[in-house]
Amino acid sequence: MSQATNQSWGGRFSEPTDAFVARFTASVTFDQRLARQDIQGSIAHATMLARVGVLTDEERDTIINGLTEIQGEIERGEFNWSIPLEDVHMNIEARLTDKIGITGKKLHTGRSRNDQVATDIRLFMRDEIDVIEAELVRLREGMIELADREADTIMPGFTHLQTAQPVTFGHHLLAWQEMLTRDHERLLDCRKRVNVMPLGAAALAGTTYPIDRHVTAELLGFDRPAENSLDAVSDRDFAIEFTSFASILLMHLSRMSEELVLWTSAQFDFIDLPDRFCTGSSIMPQKKNPDVPELVRGKTGRVYGHLMALLTLMKSQPLAYNKDNQEDKEPLFDAVDTVRDCLKAFADMVPAIEPKKDSMYEAARRGFSTATDLADYLVRNGVAFRDAHEIVGQSVAYGLKTKKDLSEMTLEELQQFSATIEQDVFEVLTLEGSVAARNHIGGTAPDQVRAAASRAREALAALKGDA
Ligand code: ARG
Repeated sequence: MSQATNQSWGGRFSEPTDAFVARFTASVTFDQRLARQDIQGSIAHATMLARVGVLTDEERDTIINGLTEIQGEIERGEFNWSIPLEDVHMNIEARLTDKIGITGKKLHTGRSRNDQVATDIRLFMRDEIDVIEAELVRLREGMIELADREADTIMPGFTHLQTAQPVTFGHHLLAWQEMLTRDHERLLDCRKRVNVMPLGAAALAGTTYPIDRHVTAELLGFDRPAENSLDAVSDRDFAIEFTSFASILLMHLSRMSEELVLWTSAQFDFIDLPDRFCTGSSIMPQKKNPDVPELVRGKTGRVYGHLMALLTLMKSQPLAYNKDNQEDKEPLFDAVDTVRDCLKAFADMVPAIEPKKDSMYEAARRGFSTATDLADYLVRNGVAFRDAHEIVGQSVAYGLKTKKDLSEMTLEELQQFSATIEQDVFEVLTLEGSVAARNHIGGTAPDQVRAAASRAREALAALKGDA
């Protein structure tokens, strides 16, 4: 037999892989991104093998030195990635054998690419989750600070995108912050299930060598070895969990983006975004477009797509490892990159939001936003709520006809609708009075917003890095 077959598994083959099939089945073009984690895992594996006597200390040191050199070659861009060598694992192992000879071939003792790749992705995900968490913390901190600063700033609150009741801008920002708190908790919860070690599961059934998986797990910073070898090589639900977290987070960021886009428009005119977060138009010289929030809103779609791809990838897969799983990487990599970039954009942008307070205040003054306050005033003075609702409805109809807000009517005008109304009604018809009256936990009163901001700061400090 003269034809060369694959050097890693070609023993039982009688012809080389078809050139197209080699390219079709190879993953090295994208999984080389796991090189650092692959080497980290291999160093821990070799260390453990020496600890249990499968390798000598000398063999271990030769392997570790070789792998460390390879790491340097990769970082310097000198490593020659080969498609016939299929994936990151076999590329690195083949290079190791080139460098140190036969000892390199001993590294794969008691291990398979199936537990190796599952370990690499988990190490990768753990690293990325920590970077993503840091950006999320930065965003939450910036949002809480801005909310605290804007605790007294009045704006209209909306339901159905129609002016409903006045709120404070700080309160609105803390609503966003609550969404991010839950996302943060979801991320840390996902990290717990990511940080479990597949290594030692080998191909699917474990290995006959006297391995010590607790040693490897500790060397790699995993919380524990995975409990079941079949599950360990096939489980990808941690990836689905991460993309679920990412989808919900992006859904939240898309809602915030949508509001930022609306608010920067001339029609709302509630905020300004600094020029560095915007771009112009090549044809309309007056334009300043809120591209950053628009793009975040748009990127939400691709992350949802990755979630759907991973769910479908795993659907109906029999135990244990199947080649299908090679398809987990590209969606996961793109989800990680997208989430990280979107969070960075938001963490940089949010503290730079410039509220246009006068314009927000004017908008809240229009649109009868204190109508509920008038109804509550009537109820406090003995009118039944349903009757009060009717009285205020008539006052609003009158205001629409005469183009006057409730606070702009005279006492006599208001008294046409109810004799119960007295001079003190004007205290509740002001925007300041309206927001200050919602003075309970979770309410929009400036004092409550300041208290909520300080609680949020404490909760964030307690959660940070709570992995
Ligand atoms: N490149 C493969 C993947 O990403 C590595 C594991 C391959 N294992 C195998 N038995 N073919 O899933």
